[in-house]
Amino acid sequence: MPFFSILTLFPEALEPYLRASIVGSARERGLARIELIDFRDFARDRHRTVDDRPFGGGPGMVLRPEPIVECVEWLERRHGEFRKIMLCPTGRPFTQGTAESLTAEERILLLCGRYEGFDQRIAELFEWEAISLGEFVLSGGELPALAVTEAVVRLLDGALGNERSAVEDSFGSGRAAGETRDGATGERAEPPPPIFDHPHYTRPRSYRGRAVPEVLLSGDHAAIARWRRKRAHERGEHLRESEGK
Ligand SMILES: C[S@@+](CC[C@H](N)C(=O)[O-])C[C@H]1O[C@@H](n2cnc3c(N)ncnc32)[C@H](O)[C@@H]1O
Repeated sequence: MPFFSILTLFPEALEPYLRASIVGSARERGLARIELIDFRDFARDRHRTVDDRPFGGGPGMVLRPEPIVECVEWLERRHGEFRKIMLCPTGRPFTQGTAESLTAEERILLLCGRYEGFDQRIAELFEWEAISLGEFVLSGGELPALAVTEAVVRLLDGALGNERSAVEDSFGSGRAAGETRDGATGERAEPPPPIFDHPHYTRPRSYRGRAVPEVLLSGDHAAIARWRRKRAHERGEHLRESEGK
C-alpha cells in the first residue's frame, strides 16, 4: 500500500477532496495511506515563520530552508526513505507513465510550494524529482499534489469498480498496476504504444439527431473491439496532426 505524505501550508484545503470519491474510498478501504503535514509546525520562531524576503531583492517571499528540510528529515527518520517529489512549474511534465511508476512505490513525498517558491538549498540537500502539472503558474503546489495523488490512487488494484477502466484509459501502458508479464504466456509483456481512449456512448440511443454507432449495439465483441481500436488510433493521429508532428 503506497503511503503518501503531502507537505503543505494548507492541509485544510486538501483534506475534503482527499476524503471524497475514489481517493476517499481507497483510503477507507486501506488501499492507500495519505498523510497531510503542515510544515509550518517545523518553524522555529514563535510567529511560526516559513518564508522570508529574497536576498538580492525582488518581489515576493521565498520559502525558508529550515522548516522544510527538518520536516523531511523527521519524516524519513520515522518511516524510512521516500521517493521525493517537489511540485514545480519548471519541473518535468507529469504523465500517465510517471503515475504508473509511482504505483510501485512504498513511500511518496509530495512537497507543495507557495509564494515565489523554495530556497535553492532545499532542492540541493535532498534528491528530488521536480514535477510540473503544465506550463502555467498556480499559487501553490496543492492542486498539482492532488492531481498526482489521484492519478496514482486510481491505478491501484481495487480502487476503481472495474479494473479495466484504468488499464484502458488514455496514455496508459495498457497494464494494470504491477502487471509486467503477459497473462497467457508468462512472457514479459512489451508495453503497447501510447494510445488514446476510444469514444464512449451510453443511453439514449439517439440524442439530438446523433445516433450511437450501430456496431456498439451489434453484440459482436470482436467488431466492437476493432472499432474501438480504430477510433482510439484516429484520435491519436488527429492530435499529432494538430500539433504538426
Ligand atoms: C507561485 S508558484 C512559484 C512560481 C515560481 N516563482 C516560478 O515562476 O517558477 C508557487 C508554488 O506553486 C507550485 N506550482 C505552481 N505552478 C505549478 C505547476 N504548474 N506545476 C507544479 N507546481 C506548481 C509550486 O510548488 C511553486 O513553488
